Amino acid sequence: MESLKQKLAALEAEISNIVITDAAALEAYRIKFLGTKGLVKDAFAAMKDVAPADKKDAGQLLNAFKQFAEAHYENNKQVQSGGGKQGNQLDFSLPGLQFQPGTRHPLKVTENEIVNIFSKIGFTVAEGPEIEDDWHNFTSLNMPADHTARDMQDTFYVAQNPDWILRTHTSSTQARVLEEGNLPVRVICPGRVYRNETISARAHCFFHQTEGLYIDKKVSFADLKQTLYYFVKEMFGSNTKVRFRPSYFPFTEPSAEMDISCTVCGGKGCNLCKHTGWVEILGCGMVHPDLLRNFNIDPEVYSGFAFGMGVERITQIKYQVNDLRLYSQNDIRFLKQFTSIQQ
Ligand code: PHE
Repeated sequence: MESLKQKLAALEAEISNIVITDAAALEAYRIKFLGTKGLVKDAFAAMKDVAPADKKDAGQLLNAFKQFAEAHYENNKQVQSGGGKQGNQLDFSLPGLQFQPGTRHPLKVTENEIVNIFSKIGFTVAEGPEIEDDWHNFTSLNMPADHTARDMQDTFYVAQNPDWILRTHTSSTQARVLEEGNLPVRVICPGRVYRNETISARAHCFFHQTEGLYIDKKVSFADLKQTLYYFVKEMFGSNTKVRFRPSYFPFTEPSAEMDISCTVCGGKGCNLCKHTGWVEILGCGMVHPDLLRNFNIDPEVYSGFAFGMGVERITQIKYQVNDLRLYSQNDIRFLKQFTSIQQ
């Protein structure tokens, strides 16, 4: 009986020291201890040499040993299959981690497209700050402090200082380009702008513009029309028609708004064009002589045109997005729809 006790204690110590690192080691352990010719079975064979009086105790000892050996197997089996705390084996049957490559934002896709089209005819990109001063955003552009046109663009003021605002249009960048004094000018100014509007499907407190400015000797309204007509054909297809309607902007004279024939219904009438067959896409005009004078440019020698469009509007027309808020909600289901049109 004593020798059986010692033997079992020695075997338990041996088992405790066995570190199982992989499935093969686990199987080797099972065969050595729990198999039909294993050491557990072998230990039970010693029962026949135990004195009848000790048989009950010996049986309990042997059963405890068997449970100990089996528990060691079961614990390690769980670890090997990844169920244990320290699963150090990979389960190749699990689905892999999915890394989703990012995609360009639809507004950036449109902006790139607009910029590319104008860069083909010699426009370069100019960028400016989003926090602007009154001079660049308003006053230099023919909108002095009391000008009613300021009401058209509800302005966000930065802190208490009325001189610092969030730019309401990227025309402020054009002012900065003119300030540099290099003529001729042929720039396209993309960027984010801010207006204090209640957020809804059709208005937002920030949006994006791409504005253009062209100043040289002998620039005429015909140049303006041809340039924008070229843009429309590139952007919306060669069948698209344009029309200009007289309008008013303080920085241009004459001013116009440009419509294109509806790209959804082709002019027959639908929700996008509100059944008129036309959709408005931009404002434009000949640069006001007073504005040129503000930048020490002689309007008798130089003339130019300017235009500005909303990037959201162009994207909405191209991809029939009917709620402006979608652009800034970061909903992956919305954004993923634009994966295939990377630019
Ligand atoms: N800056 C004008 C706006 O934000 C757009 C515009 C630009 C109009 C240039 C005419 C000429 O509404």
